[in-house]
Amino acid sequence: MPEPWWRRAVFYQIYPRSFATSRNRPTGDLPGIEQHLDHLNWLGVDAVWISPFYRSPQADFGYDVADHCDVDPLFGDLEDFDRLLAACHARGLRLLVDLVPNHTSDQHPWFLASRSSRDDPKRDWYIWRDGTPDTPPNNWVAAFAPVPAWTWDEATEQWYLHLFLPQQPDLNWANPEVVEAMHGVMRFWLDRGVDGFRIDVVHGIGKDPDLPDTPPELVGLPQAVLNDTPQTHEHIRGMRRLADSYDGDRVLLGEVYLLSTERVATYYGDGDELHLAFNFPPLHTPWDAARWRQQIEDTARHIEPRGWPTWVLSNHDHVRHRSRYGSEARARAATFLLLGLRGTPVLYAGEELGLEDAEVPPERVVDPGGRDGCRAPIPWTGAPDHGWGVTDAWLPWPPDADERNVEAQVADPSSIAHLYRRLIAVRKASPALQLGDQELLDLGGDLVAWRRTSPAGDGDDRVVVVNMGAEAARVDLSGTVLVASDGEGEGEPFTGKVGPDSAVLLRPAP
Ligand code: NOJ
Repeated sequence: MPEPWWRRAVFYQIYPRSFATSRNRPTGDLPGIEQHLDHLNWLGVDAVWISPFYRSPQADFGYDVADHCDVDPLFGDLEDFDRLLAACHARGLRLLVDLVPNHTSDQHPWFLASRSSRDDPKRDWYIWRDGTPDTPPNNWVAAFAPVPAWTWDEATEQWYLHLFLPQQPDLNWANPEVVEAMHGVMRFWLDRGVDGFRIDVVHGIGKDPDLPDTPPELVGLPQAVLNDTPQTHEHIRGMRRLADSYDGDRVLLGEVYLLSTERVATYYGDGDELHLAFNFPPLHTPWDAARWRQQIEDTARHIEPRGWPTWVLSNHDHVRHRSRYGSEARARAATFLLLGLRGTPVLYAGEELGLEDAEVPPERVVDPGGRDGCRAPIPWTGAPDHGWGVTDAWLPWPPDADERNVEAQVADPSSIAHLYRRLIAVRKASPALQLGDQELLDLGGDLVAWRRTSPAGDGDDRVVVVNMGAEAARVDLSGTVLVASDGEGEGEPFTGKVGPDSAVLLRPAP
């Protein structure tokens, strides 16, 4: 069996509101993405995942879907989508869309019907429970704010469940009609030719039918990071069968937001559930070598027996890792984790520019979850409009956008964007980095180091050393430096020195 494409691929997430506009507006759109595909080819990524662009009231900026099978006019229309997909394929890029199966918008026709009366045929498409207006059915907490995951519907005098905003009622996957409807959504996009789905909160879709209270030691944590039931696995197997019934290795990349790698691993099933699952514990790990070695070991121990790992440090829900780690040097060195560890990396648009989160003054905060900073628009140029045709986009520009923008970085071979590009190219040329086994090297202290062995057994291995410490380190290894986070000494024999907050990728001496 040849290795499926998504094991070798580098994925790139686009948040469409913030990527690029084709029509001089403060928000991005699908033709804007199409016009900037050159940048993705320049960088060398293989696959794009686009966050939701479906019809939506935008209460959760598109993760509240009112029609899964249409494009919101904010982003264009279905023809724009088809053109974008064709353009991606013509350039050798795969395209994943975001499937949001756990909930819909409260404005979705399904929910409007469900809410209209207790006797409506769609009543049971959502999760309704009896009770009194003062006592929710259980103690589950919604995401974003410490409020109950239940909203009382005055008109029909029942509660409905929402793991996220009240405007995002949870679908009832125990109802086979819901399963069939969501499979219909999947077919709609697969028939159009998408290469797969990133699946939003996929661990949330099945609910324990008893809806048991959150146990005392976990009270206060949102149900969205706790929900973990056998029912979900059955539903994912159904999605997998559907995806596998299409040709072309369509991929399911699930968001499993459980902060245990051991639990995340179970969502690969026995090779019959997700092809890939996000594993967020590393994203929540600080710049600390011992903690990182532990994450790498945990990933190998739990994920590898079940499936292929993924690595992600930034996305539209978290403070960018450039901001979390506190310096560009660290962001540069972190790139070696993403692109050097065994698994599929998922980059978040703008991280290749070393973007920091924007500072968002209180009057410009728009996200109920407080995630605006990492969603700042991508600065394409150093001009006052940064290539958007408007000086004020929907969110403030990220810091230093006058210098830190695509145009300036592409022109500067020492930029972090060029570092990403070099690492991606070196990875693409190396079976060891793409598919080879991985062995952690015990260099101790502030060093995280590992070896990737050539699957051909020809000894064409690679070694990565990341120094997370504030002091330069000496390493007893010899070989050739292929890529260095500070750009020093590339193509030359390794001197054994790794600077503070720096990383090197070596071809080790035989
Ligand atoms: C996870 C998404 O990444 C996030 O942006 C969204 O708010 C929630 N799921 C709800 O859909």
